[in-house]
Amino acid sequence: MLDGPKLNNAENYVYNNFKQEVNNLFSLSVKADKVFSITQPLQRLFAITLIIVVIIYGGFRVSQGTLTTGTLISFMIFLLQLIGPINNVADFYNNYMNAKGSTEKIFSILNTKTEKNKLSNLDIHSVSKPFTLSLKNATFAYSETIILKNINMCFKSGENIAIVGATGSGKSTIINLITRLYPLKEGMLFLNQKDALEINLYDWRSLFGVVSQENTIFSGSILDNLIFGLNYKPSEEKIEKALKIANLYTEIKHLSKGVYTLIGERGMKLSGGQRQRLQIARAYLKDADFLILDEATSSLDSNTEKGIIDNLKTIMKDKTIISIAHRLSTIVDADRIYFIENKVIKDFGTHFDLLKRVPEYRKYIKEQIIKVEEDI
Ligand SMILES: Nc1ncnc2c1ncn2[C@@H]1O[C@H](COP(=O)(O)OP(=O)(O)O)[C@@H](O)[C@H]1O
Ligand SMILES: [Mg+2]
Repeated sequence: MLDGPKLNNAENYVYNNFKQEVNNLFSLSVKADKVFSITQPLQRLFAITLIIVVIIYGGFRVSQGTLTTGTLISFMIFLLQLIGPINNVADFYNNYMNAKGSTEKIFSILNTKTEKNKLSNLDIHSVSKPFTLSLKNATFAYSETIILKNINMCFKSGENIAIVGATGSGKSTIINLITRLYPLKEGMLFLNQKDALEINLYDWRSLFGVVSQENTIFSGSILDNLIFGLNYKPSEEKIEKALKIANLYTEIKHLSKGVYTLIGERGMKLSGGQRQRLQIARAYLKDADFLILDEATSSLDSNTEKGIIDNLKTIMKDKTIISIAHRLSTIVDADRIYFIENKVIKDFGTHFDLLKRVPEYRKYIKEQIIKVEEDI
């Protein structure tokens, strides 16, 4: 986070924004203090005036003989006891206005709509394995801007599928559609013959192990990160296996505290590649039916990437692997490649089918896919 402004030469921009916010806060506090400096003395002045009036009037009545000194003194004592609560009522108003300002912010967060779908109540066991996930004529738009149009795709159990296309073509959006993070504008999503919207979201998400472009490592130990969100406690052997698959085992073994080493803000800093490998190990442990790798290996060198992908393919034979990658070695032996261009699926097939059939695919491979020596 802190490197963001530095890398973008944006120190001045951030500093000026911050300065302006501090100045705003300062002038608001001065304003509040000004109001306070008038209302508080007024409140006290009112109380003192009240006491003086009572003393003068009461004294006058005593001198007239229409009031006893005892009654005046009792009246004064009651009055003094009343002044405290009256002041409290005035303070209450100040505190109330203060709290109202802060709670409005909190409520705006609390009022964020929870993900809901009226139809979603079936559990995932209402669909029997093997699973086939499919998008039928799916269209997605951000407000009015169409991002993907008439998408038809299917992911069968045990298949190894790749999605390719230029940056911004909508690959990550497809992942967000099938994991139901985004709703379809048109079309449908199915698991076997069942409409996805009928299955409750919690169960639906349990279908996917996702290693996304976003960094989902948080502060805590390596182990905390590995078992984050799992619905079972993996054995030591399973954790060891996960680390081996993700090519992390030796690195972690050399740490004095092993998997208990703290990482994140106050712990050890991980490299981009280490973060990605940790997320892969976590996704493996989730043991989900669909493993999604969205540019999950972009920070790894090609040998490490190939090693990990091969490990995953061998070990997760019965699972579906969906990969979005920019390296030829990762996509070349996919069972099916979906090539996205101009919001639609231009074509799909194996790498060699597409090379033969689709000139745009040839161009894309030539210009945008990272090739390493062993790929050529
Ligand atoms: N929150 C958003 N609001 C509007 N447009 C968005 C938003 N997120 C992504 N997009 C647009 O959607 C398109 C597809 O994005 P994305 O699926 O992330 O592409 P890819 O993963 O293929 O690089 C891009 O053109 C992007 O500009
Ligand atoms: Mg993306």
